[in-house]
Amino acid sequence: MNTINPGATVSLCIMSGKGGVGKTNVALNLGYALKDLGHKLMLMDCDLGLANLDVLLGLTPERNLQDLMSGDARPEDVVLEVEPGLNILPSASGVPELVEMDQNQRDALFDKLKELIAGYEFLLLDLGAGISDTVLSLARMAQMRVVLVTPEPTSLTDGYAVIKVLHAKHGVRNFCVVVNQASADEARETFQRLNMACKNFLGFELVNLGHIRMDANVTSAVRHQTPLAKHAPQCPAYKDIAAIAGRIAHYRRENIEAVAGRTPLKDFS
Ligand SMILES: Nc1ncnc2c1ncn2[C@@H]1O[C@H](COP(=O)(O)OP(=O)(O)OP(=O)(O)O)[C@@H](O)[C@H]1O
Ligand SMILES: [Mg+2]
Repeated sequence: MNTINPGATVSLCIMSGKGGVGKTNVALNLGYALKDLGHKLMLMDCDLGLANLDVLLGLTPERNLQDLMSGDARPEDVVLEVEPGLNILPSASGVPELVEMDQNQRDALFDKLKELIAGYEFLLLDLGAGISDTVLSLARMAQMRVVLVTPEPTSLTDGYAVIKVLHAKHGVRNFCVVVNQASADEARETFQRLNMACKNFLGFELVNLGHIRMDANVTSAVRHQTPLAKHAPQCPAYKDIAAIAGRIAHYRRENIEAVAGRTPLKDFS
């Protein structure tokens, strides 16, 4: 039997079919909101080769995942503390080797990171858009998958495609959904349409984690290269993100026994 281990790490990836729906902004600000709830976490830029997290933070990291892969740096040299409790692992931009990693290289990377990751309660992975091998295998390895969609029909069909491919290729059935850039009504309708498609064609239902309102403060925060959490913490979009963080923290508490004793990057289902 598993013993309860309050220190167990939950890995959660943010993914989408369509690009530009808000993954990096949501990952970063969920990081702040979870940190404010008292959790220690690491945010990993997994948009390998097209890194963005550092840009949203206005940082120019000296070292990144590429140095770790090549053996030029140790994990602790690459991690940056953004705030106490909130750390990031930056990736590199314009590095094709990172995008084209095979499974052996990905396993080697996570072997190097294993000890480091064990020190956190959450590992948040900001994935690239689409259904590349790297995206699919990282999504499969994570314990929680948050599919981010907007009410646009193209985002919805691409979101469904990501779920369908992960299910068909890897048998994954547990997905959470966040609808971004949406009113409550739009979000309800968007979730229902996606959920119905999964129920009817794939045979499972989705978990609704909530929605994030369309808010000009998000764009303004990006332009200022300051996280929304600091730029406009009282704005509607950040309040929505904080509410979602609360649900994720609740999920961790509820599933702590399932998490304990497992490696952070392993599916529950
Ligand atoms: N809730 C929101 N309200 C208003 N604008 C938003 C919201 N969420 C995201 N955006 C806009 O969408 C843009 C893209 O966001 P972001 O870079 O986080 O997307 P992404 O999904 O990570 O993109 P990529 O697929 O290229 O990695 C932001 O710069 C911002 O202008
Ligand atoms: Mg991004």
